[in-house]
Amino acid sequence: MEQQSGNKTNLPWVEKYRPETLDDLISHEDILDTIKRFIKEGRLPHLLFYGPPGTGKTSTILAIAKQLYKPKDYTSSVLELNASDDRGIGVVRQEIMSFASTRTIFRSGFKLVILDEADAMTKDAQNALRRVIEKFTENTRFCLICNYLSKIIPALQSRCTRFRFGPLTLDQMCPRLDYVIQVEKVNITEDGTKAILTLANGDMRKSLNILQSSSMAYDEVNEDNVYTCVGHPLKSDITNIINWMLNDDFSTAFNNIIKIKTEKGLALQDILTEIHLYVHRIDFPSKIRIHLLDKMAEIEHRLSSGTNENIQLASLLGAFQVTRDIIAAEAT
Ligand SMILES: Nc1ncnc2c1ncn2[C@@H]1O[C@H](COP(=O)(O)OP(=O)(O)OP(=O)(O)O)[C@@H](O)[C@H]1O
Ligand SMILES: [Mg+2]
Repeated sequence: MEQQSGNKTNLPWVEKYRPETLDDLISHEDILDTIKRFIKEGRLPHLLFYGPPGTGKTSTILAIAKQLYKPKDYTSSVLELNASDDRGIGVVRQEIMSFASTRTIFRSGFKLVILDEADAMTKDAQNALRRVIEKFTENTRFCLICNYLSKIIPALQSRCTRFRFGPLTLDQMCPRLDYVIQVEKVNITEDGTKAILTLANGDMRKSLNILQSSSMAYDEVNEDNVYTCVGHPLKSDITNIINWMLNDDFSTAFNNIIKIKTEKGLALQDILTEIHLYVHRIDFPSKIRIHLLDKMAEIEHRLSSGTNENIQLASLLGAFQVTRDIIAAEAT
């Protein structure tokens, strides 16, 4: 594993524990194997990495670059551009062109142009890039990285070898998280680790960020602390909310939920996600379950377009009220 040099102590843990070499990377065995083979044979194609955030795309290409070039050659051989740089058509024409067209006089091999967050590039710039890629294939390799493959024009896609970085599994994330916990001497309970992995949902960056912030905020990191730290509803909160929705009258339930939402700063979106899991678990008659899920899907859609949370909450409560009425009517 990588060294813990003193000047790294102030870095956020995602950077401090960024994998330095290909061997430090977890997961995506097949992708890594293929790339290692390309490197060994000296036949690296143009690359296109895509997939959800925090799965190691940037880390992988940086590790590849470090393996390919000695530190003294690095700056002259690698051009890194990401979304914070201007990447309109002008940059493609000037910066990339001039980097790619200068010959490597003393060294054989090729240069590497890394276009991180390539889905943020304009269509014009992408079109200009087609030509550039073709023209300089002899001495330059391009690596495009994006979250959404559909935002890369097909012509560029077909020029590259594509690799999909899927979300990491629990088995893959667990050892890496444990390693950081050990090195940083975090006092964490078992359910704390589990909560972090659940919240991170396959995003290693997120898991490290949650670990760092909750270990800074609390002496002991446990499930409740983790959830409170990220403002995610606790299990007990969800149980309360569901009890109110199923047993109390509309206005009591509404007021109680509003109160807990303001006290703990919960988002309706998160509450909805948790209730959704609950609706799947409980043994409702299928007609009722479908009705509820349908309503919840609508509410979720409306929430995502920035509607008023209180009105959507009322709508959610309404859906549960109707469900209760149906159940009561069928019981009599
Ligand atoms: N496969 C992995 N192995 C080890 N650490 C990882 C891995 N993936 C992510 N990480 C951790 O998460 C951090 C962020 O990873 P990285 O920047 O590579 O993600 P990304 O796929 O480029 O995400 P984005 O699409 O948001 O740019 C790294 O610094 C590292 O600490
Ligand atoms: Mg990245």
